[in-house]
Amino acid sequence: DWKMDSFTEQSIKKLKEKIGDKKVLCALSGGVDSSVAAVMISKAVGKQLTCIFVDHGLLRKNEGDEVEKIFTEQFDVNFVRVNVQQRFYDKLAGVSEPEAKRKIIGEEFIRVFEEEAKKIGTVEYLVQGTIYPDVIESGLGKSAVIKSHHNVGGLPDYVDFKEIIEPLRDLFKDEVRKAGLELGIPEKLVFRQPFPGPGLAIRIIGDVTEEKVKIIQEADAIYREEIANAGLDRSVGQYFAALTNMRSVGVMGDERTYDYAVALRAVTTTDFMTAEAAELPWEVLGKVSSRIVNEVKHVNRVLYDCTGKPPATIEFE
Ligand code: XMP
Repeated sequence: DWKMDSFTEQSIKKLKEKIGDKKVLCALSGGVDSSVAAVMISKAVGKQLTCIFVDHGLLRKNEGDEVEKIFTEQFDVNFVRVNVQQRFYDKLAGVSEPEAKRKIIGEEFIRVFEEEAKKIGTVEYLVQGTIYPDVIESGLGKSAVIKSHHNVGGLPDYVDFKEIIEPLRDLFKDEVRKAGLELGIPEKLVFRQPFPGPGLAIRIIGDVTEEKVKIIQEADAIYREEIANAGLDRSVGQYFAALTNMRSVGVMGDERTYDYAVALRAVTTTDFMTAEAAELPWEVLGKVSSRIVNEVKHVNRVLYDCTGKPPATIEFE
């Protein structure tokens, strides 16, 4: 499509002129928007861009390594991965209230980012992956904050820079994806489903431990693999496994078990404001559930969430 081609080309050209020889900083989450924004800047000014990727230990299985691989092997940027998994687990220890967990993660994230940004010194520009729907949404001024989304607009106050650059400000999501593909970003990342900033912490009901994170990473990886095998990965809006805080009795061989229940969530939605539970084929659910109980230690039961939004939310916290 000539319009998009010229959009990416024109943007890169304009960014190059604007940035000149100055330094640019980017908080890379590994999500579609921040990745496309970062790659666009990198095509314009290469290593003048530093991407800080905070691995808070609440990402999906192998996700940190995948993001690191793409940005170190495929694109010309300064890529800094900050491994602060333990720091986040320590902060979250014993905290079970959802908003308290979000707050801790949001604040710690900013602190880590700030520490790393200091090491880089003065930067002229901060890149944000703001897209057009974000612009409209913030303009409307949401009347009630149902959940605090820490990663929307949280950073600028804490980092020393002169100006924000938002190269995707005029684009809708499908246009961002198109630009991403043109820029050579792997499809897996371009078509990645939304993943919340607080990560798996809000898919573990109650307090978070490293062990629970491992359990849900494994269960979720199996679920995603089978959804992809069934060819459903592009038609279901969002799907993931969550760890309920519930343990129940099961049986394995002659032994009684008392282990966790995993909940599977899959929704279809157009805007994530409302959603319906997806009617996944029973064979897929059956396969996922037997694989999870067989392959993931400490899980003896798998449940499917049939609730729409509202009244439930998509995430569990
Ligand atoms: P809920 O659970 O509110 O989620 O129905 C709606 C959409 O927003 C995502 N979500 C978040 N995204 N930070 C984010 O960046 C957050 O704290 C957060 N909480 C929920 C959720 O994954 C879904 O796509």
